[in-house]
Amino acid sequence: MTSEPRRPWVVGVSGASGTPYAAAVLAGLLDAGVPVDLVVSRAARLTLLDETGQPFRDGHWRDDLAGWLGRDLGEADLRYWPAGDLAAGPSSGSYQARGMVVVPASTAACAGIAIGLSKDLLQRAAEVNLKERRPVVVVPRETPVTRSHLLHLVELLDAGAVVLPASPGFYGAGAQASAQQLIDFVAGKVLDALAVPHTLYRRWAGALGEAR
Ligand SMILES: Cc1cc2nc3c(=O)[nH]c(=O)nc-3n(C[C@H](O)[C@H](O)[C@H](O)COP(=O)(O)O)c2cc1C
Repeated sequence: MTSEPRRPWVVGVSGASGTPYAAAVLAGLLDAGVPVDLVVSRAARLTLLDETGQPFRDGHWRDDLAGWLGRDLGEADLRYWPAGDLAAGPSSGSYQARGMVVVPASTAACAGIAIGLSKDLLQRAAEVNLKERRPVVVVPRETPVTRSHLLHLVELLDAGAVVLPASPGFYGAGAQASAQQLIDFVAGKVLDALAVPHTLYRRWAGALGEAR
């Protein structure tokens, strides 16, 4: 008897501001009970430390991730691959990933993925998932933007990625939305793009003012 292969979503966290978006996407995937493979770029360790005070160490990734997400990871189907490990599973198209999310996506990561630089595992895994025609969602976070960044986003779109800027809408929770509601709005749109069920934001139901 053959069992179903493990088919994880690869989550790549790059060094743009916006680690709360990554935390919300990871929490949403874990809540949905889907397997996750995590890659955290070197620069993302700096943004994580800056924004949360939480260190992220390859040798202590499970404890550090639990501290960052503020949850027990006991039952979670999680795998972690160091960003420098170019021999890691997700660096090959034969590894049965379901697809990938880069959240947040730095301009550098967008550029590297768009041109196939593969300077680390995050960029390589994104390129691999694109070439295998699997779902890839990129969540850029920069403002204002250069022409080259915009062109890289167009290249990612043309290669099949969903380009999903970290640009929360206020229709879900109204003008008094909390920071967490705005974060969850973006995370919810990411999970929508992956067709992963969630209740992270209130969907538009056709009536003005419902969120107030
Ligand atoms: C505290 C901090 C905040 C940053 N915020 C952003 C950002 O919002 N967007 C961005 O594109 N780069 C940002 N950067 C710069 C990236 O970290 C830098 O370009 C890095 O090379 C990205 O590498 P990576 O794509 O391998 O993670 C930030 C850097 C630091 C230290």
